[in-house]
Amino acid sequence: MTGIRILATGKAVPKREVTNDDMAKIVDTSDEWIKQRTGMSVRHHVSDGENHTMLAEQAARAAIERANINKDDIGVVIVCTVSADYYSPSAACLIQGRLGLKKDVIAFDLGAGCSGFVFGLETIRALMMARKEKYGLLIGAEVLSKKMDMTDRGTCVLFGDGAAAAVVELSDKLYTSVIGVDGDEEMINIKTPNGYIHMDGQGTYKFAVATVPKVIEQVVKDAGLTYDDIDYYVMHQANLRIIESIAKKVKQPMDKFIVNIEKYGNTSAASVGLALDEAFEEGRIKPGDKVLICAFGAGRTWGAVVVEM
Ligand code: UT7
Repeated sequence: MTGIRILATGKAVPKREVTNDDMAKIVDTSDEWIKQRTGMSVRHHVSDGENHTMLAEQAARAAIERANINKDDIGVVIVCTVSADYYSPSAACLIQGRLGLKKDVIAFDLGAGCSGFVFGLETIRALMMARKEKYGLLIGAEVLSKKMDMTDRGTCVLFGDGAAAAVVELSDKLYTSVIGVDGDEEMINIKTPNGYIHMDGQGTYKFAVATVPKVIEQVVKDAGLTYDDIDYYVMHQANLRIIESIAKKVKQPMDKFIVNIEKYGNTSAASVGLALDEAFEEGRIKPGDKVLICAFGAGRTWGAVVVEM
C-alpha cells in the first residue's frame, strides 16, 4: 500500500471569539477593511487556562473517537506547528502521554508553517509505510495569538488559534502529492527566541496566486485526473481573495472550494484540517470523494495532495 486515507477528523478552537470590531479596538483597522481584504470576520484566541497542548489533545480525542479505532494501533504521531507550548519536549510527545498511546510510537513535531498539514500528510505516509503501521495521528495545531505583535495591524488581525487532527490509515486508494520548497528567510518568519510573526503580505500574496495554480495543475495531472474530477478543493485559509483567484485560474466553481476563513482567520498548520473537519461534519465531503488539499506559506513552501476519502 502506497497511499493513505483520512479516516476521521476532529477539531478544537479556544472559547474566546475575537471579532474584527474587537481588533479595531487594539489597532487602527476596521471590520470593513478586514472583511474586504481577507474574508475574515472572527478568529479565536486562547484565554488564561487554555493552551496549545489542550487544543491538540481535544482535536486528537475527537478524531480517534470518530475513527472508532483501537488507539493502540496508532504507530506515528506528528504535530505540525510553529507555536507549541514548549520548544522541547515536542507537542507530539505530550499527546502520546496524555492520550496513553503505545510507547513504541514515533512522535515528533513538524515545522513547515502554513504548509504543515500537507507536509505532515506526506511525512506520516512515508513513515507508516516504512514501519508498516496501521494508523497514524496527524495534528495541525497553532496558538499564533502568542506570536503576534499586537501593534502591527498588517499581521495581528490575520491569525487565529486552533487545532485539527486526522486519523489516517495506509491505503491502496488514490493518493498523489506534490511538495516543494524554495528556501526563503524573509517572506514570513518568527525569529527565535521570542520573535513575533513578520510577514511581507503582498509578497506572500503574489507568491500564492502565482505558485498554487501550478502546484494544483501538477498534482491533478500526476493523479491522472482533470480539475472536474476533483469533488472538493480544500485550500489553506489565508485569504478569501487568494482562494477565489485560484478557483478562477483552475476554472472551477467556488462551491467546490471549502471556505471557513470567516470564522477562524488564518490558523496556519491547523487551517486545512479545520476546513476538512467542517466539510465532513456538514456532510459535504463524503466517503469516495476525491479531494485536493493544498497549502503554502513560510519558507516559501507549498504542497498539495489528492486523496480519495
Ligand atoms: O498563511 C501564510 C500565507 N499568508 C498569506 O497568504 C497572506 C497573503 N497576503 C495577504 O493576504 C494580503 O497581502 C494582506 C491581507 C496581508 C494585506 O492585504 P493587501 O490588500 O495586500 O494590503 P496591503 O498590504 O497592500 O496594504 C494596503 C493598505 C496599506 O496602506 P497604504 O500604504 O495603502 O496607506 C496598509 O498599511 O492597507 C493598510 N493596512 C491596513 N489597513 C487597515 C494593512 N493592514 C491593515 C489593517 N487595517 N489591518
